[in-house]
Amino acid sequence: MTDGRDDRHPDIPEDMPEIETILLNWYRRNARDLPWRQTRDPYRILVSEVMLQQTQVDRVIPKYHAFLDAFPSSEALAAASTADVIRLWSGLGYNRRAVNLQRAARAVAVEHGGAFPRDVSSLKKLPGIGPYTAGAIACFAFEQDVGFLDTNIRRLLHRLLIGPEVPEEQRSQREMQALASSIVPYGHGWEWGQTLIEFGALQCTARKPACLTCPLQHHCCAFPEIQTVLADLARNGFRRKKEAAFEGSNRFYRGRVLRVLQEDGHSTGIELEHLGHRVRDDYAPEHQGWLESLVEGLASDGLVQIQEDRPSYDSSPKVRLPGSSSEG
Ligand code: ADE
Repeated sequence: MTDGRDDRHPDIPEDMPEIETILLNWYRRNARDLPWRQTRDPYRILVSEVMLQQTQVDRVIPKYHAFLDAFPSSEALAAASTADVIRLWSGLGYNRRAVNLQRAARAVAVEHGGAFPRDVSSLKKLPGIGPYTAGAIACFAFEQDVGFLDTNIRRLLHRLLIGPEVPEEQRSQREMQALASSIVPYGHGWEWGQTLIEFGALQCTARKPACLTCPLQHHCCAFPEIQTVLADLARNGFRRKKEAAFEGSNRFYRGRVLRVLQEDGHSTGIELEHLGHRVRDDYAPEHQGWLESLVEGLASDGLVQIQEDRPSYDSSPKVRLPGSSSEG
């Protein structure tokens, strides 16, 4: 792990500078205002990172504040009774992490004179601190240009820069770490680290990545496969025998709606009723409720947008792909 970039890494594409700009701009527009993003105190960063390893952001926030109110510094945590530390940890589970956190605070006091070490290799020697947490502290507390991996960052980098033709398991942790280290934009390590975490949490999620609203569509090694899946859904849905049940299902019609909107290109959208006739040959007025809930489901997954400001109350709303035509 170095603080210099290595543009010769084989997985770094030529358009990496553009990818970098798109991601950093996305972060500036979409990042959540989270309490551990307001500090550079390595102790506070460590507490947040250990809590976030096992618990969702929303549930961590109150626990983070309560824990730091009780133990506002590494010295305070080192001096506390372990029973009190575990009590403050309750509700987060995995008490061993609280015990390790306190062991780390004690090691900082005894072995480092109360000041956190700054480099990744010394951080990794603290009890309970692995490569991810050490990298995160070096990056988020000391603003070093270091790359680090958790499962979400690994998944994101694999999708974006490698793609589904190479199974994720085929790339070793060492190879992925080298890739992560070599793409950190010089002088922007802090923001880059937060960006990869935020993009993995909000956009390129594990089970429902929001590919159709993704600003990296034209740069992503996984996006062509998403397009193929959509095309297949719409074209072959009728024919495949084993998909007979699937044909009448919502999943099938969700695929058709997306296909029709894609074919429609960059128009201002398609009226719901018109969309209905293009999605199913037997479309009739009694299908309107069904179509509305189908489209609302797609909208809540971020896959389509429904025009809110209709000319009149009873005119049919328009539906379009997110980002097509003029916004707003
Ligand atoms: N999960 C781990 N680190 C995080 C961070 N800095 N912000 C949000 N979620 C996280």
